[in-house]
Amino acid sequence: MFEEEKRAAAMEAIKHVKSGMKLGLGTGSTTRYFLDALGELVKSGKITDIIGVPTSKKTEEIANSYGIKTVNNINNIDIDFDGADEFDPDGNLIKGGGGALVREKIVAYNSKNVFIMVDSSKFSEKLHKFPLPVEVIPFMEDQTLSHIEELGAKCTFRDNKKFISDNGNYIIDCRFDYTDTGLEQKIKMIPGVVEVGIFHNITTKIFKGNGNTCEIIDI
Ligand code: 5RP
Repeated sequence: MFEEEKRAAAMEAIKHVKSGMKLGLGTGSTTRYFLDALGELVKSGKITDIIGVPTSKKTEEIANSYGIKTVNNINNIDIDFDGADEFDPDGNLIKGGGGALVREKIVAYNSKNVFIMVDSSKFSEKLHKFPLPVEVIPFMEDQTLSHIEELGAKCTFRDNKKFISDNGNYIIDCRFDYTDTGLEQKIKMIPGVVEVGIFHNITTKIFKGNGNTCEIIDI
């Protein structure tokens, strides 16, 4: 059922793509539906001159396999299309379940529009269900984890430090009772932390699958 909702969200979101646009290309299984649909439009020539900024090596591979041109340094991205692990009524997000939060946040921050595609299970009145991903440098990382725990979390290295991000870093998954921007700032102040998976005030539209239809939420 959630697969159907992910697909429905992606199929609605893709209607906003026009030839010549610069697009942020997210990471994850929902974005995969979007990328496959975009790839077909590009291959058939219905959409031309797209430039994509991929948020992970995996997304770059998929985009290139369809002949979509990708770059990693560009101004004025028209729309960033991405998924999320959790979203609240104000469009705030937890992201990083796929380990791509650093590039995802940079691309979202540099996009004129941020369109988030989700299935209905991702909704939460208050962000706290999904363990908050934090990317950290692989140096003094056990100490970095302890400092995050001092803020009130229970933390674990993703896959016991076997998961390495595209940037060569570890991901720490952190269980807090609450998440807000104050917490985001406190975690970012800890030396060794690269980025935190709280995306506050950055979403412009949410495409939420609902069975085989899609609800569009303007933020
Ligand atoms: C990757 C992400 C993804 O957008 C998030 O994990 C959602 O993925 P999916 O669409 O597979 O549920 O933040 O870092």
